[in-house]
Amino acid sequence: MDAVLRRYVRFRCGPAARRPPLRCAAPEPCGGWGRTRRPYRRYLGGPTRRPRIRRGRSRTPPRRDEMAARPRPARRSPHLGEHLMDLRIPRIALVGANGYGLHHRHNLEPKRREGKVEFVGMCDTADIIENADIPIGDVPVFDDVQRMLDATDPHIVIIATPPPTHLPIATLAMRHGADVYLEKPPVANLDEYAQLYAIMVETGQNVQVGFQALGSHAFGALRDAVEAGQLGEIQSVGVAGSWQRADSYYRRSPWAGKREANGTPVADGALANPFAHASQQALAAAGDWPLAGSIELERLRCREQIEVDDTAVWRGRNKGGVDITVAVTLCGERKLEGDVYVKGSEGEAWLEYPTDRLRLPGDDEPKTYGRTDLLDNLMLHRQRGVGLISGLRRAKTFTAVLETVLNDPLPRLVGEEHLRRVGEDPIAILDGADVAVERAAKENKLFSELALPWA
Ligand SMILES: NC(=O)c1ccc[n+]([C@@H]2O[C@H](COP(=O)([O-])OP(=O)(O)OC[C@H]3O[C@@H](n4cnc5c(N)ncnc54)[C@H](O)[C@@H]3O)[C@@H](O)[C@H]2O)c1
Repeated sequence: MDAVLRRYVRFRCGPAARRPPLRCAAPEPCGGWGRTRRPYRRYLGGPTRRPRIRRGRSRTPPRRDEMAARPRPARRSPHLGEHLMDLRIPRIALVGANGYGLHHRHNLEPKRREGKVEFVGMCDTADIIENADIPIGDVPVFDDVQRMLDATDPHIVIIATPPPTHLPIATLAMRHGADVYLEKPPVANLDEYAQLYAIMVETGQNVQVGFQALGSHAFGALRDAVEAGQLGEIQSVGVAGSWQRADSYYRRSPWAGKREANGTPVADGALANPFAHASQQALAAAGDWPLAGSIELERLRCREQIEVDDTAVWRGRNKGGVDITVAVTLCGERKLEGDVYVKGSEGEAWLEYPTDRLRLPGDDEPKTYGRTDLLDNLMLHRQRGVGLISGLRRAKTFTAVLETVLNDPLPRLVGEEHLRRVGEDPIAILDGADVAVERAAKENKLFSELALPWA
């Protein structure tokens, strides 16, 4: 059976793999996405050539010196073997059951009722909120992660706690032998990323990061169009987001609006939290390349009582030569859900990443697509070796961006003359912020290059 599995892995990881869910059957270290995949440029340069498919045939074995030069994923075959054979109903536990954990409980409930998962435990340091649609019922409740792991022995642990707790909780879960669904942002900096990655490799467990928009079929269709050369050579990707938040948003939890707690960065702010998806989507749409250098960053805040940005832009270039700009505000007059503009030499595409709407060159109207749920994808990865959509490796470049954002000094406070405060629980509206983020994304510009009175 080992030889069969090895052949299967070679086939899935080889050039025959075109897109998820068939891209790669191996666990994280050999990468479903990221550096092992064929870079965009090779698809874009000339006429698209279909990669040769070697079905299950072993290739000429590499010479010894070649083997030494290649990064070797740890525990690939034995680990895969275990997972491909794991057809048990997954035992799932949730850490962080309120806040965004409520979303996970809503997602788990129908799967539990249909017998697709066993919901074996919930852990929260606070009292867990009861809700008729997602009853706690007889799911055991804990206030300590290790005790929950020992008592319930889960296959998958969903972690929806504040970011500074992600690394220690994910470490406990993986050391216990569980795969992890880790909410975004996975960790706050590259040092923590390296620690988490090392534990993942050491334990041979899987880490799926909660960038749910990567599961969008609209995003898959965009990637397919790019790879088929429909947009020509990709030059730039820009993302614009314009939402509103009331003052109470910054009272929702102890870490809201804060730069750090007890000396640890807490990763709130427009770029680090609600629009984290915007950055990850931009990096992925630009081909999942690492960045070629550091990013340029401008961060502003419209409330004195917060320490994080509510309006911000970053710009960088990836190693594939694609310019990336992400411009977002939580103080916009008009709502922009999250618009991704992809510009190529032959045409442009528009994707609204939170709603899965996509317009490709030649389309009169955008089309709405479905989505693959990332928990379903993780379960299929365990059961059948389907490639992980949002594996930890894919979040590395995002983590580098986040590290820069979190190390940036306190954002500049915008003058009151540019602001309006509306409502009893006031939202702050920054003059022209919605237009500014749209222009920044479309024109690949920073706020300071747009002749804005407040930038
Ligand atoms: N994917 C998304 O779209 C999305 C949306 C919102 C939030 N999130 C992410 O979800 C995570 C949680 O965010 P939130 O706003 O719900 O945070 P939160 O502060 O409301 O915390 C969530 C829960 O975790 C509990 N908790 C805190 N520390 C704990 C610990 N050590 N052990 C057990 N429970 C603990 C809290 O009591 C709370 O009930 C964050 O990483 C956030 O970025 C993701």
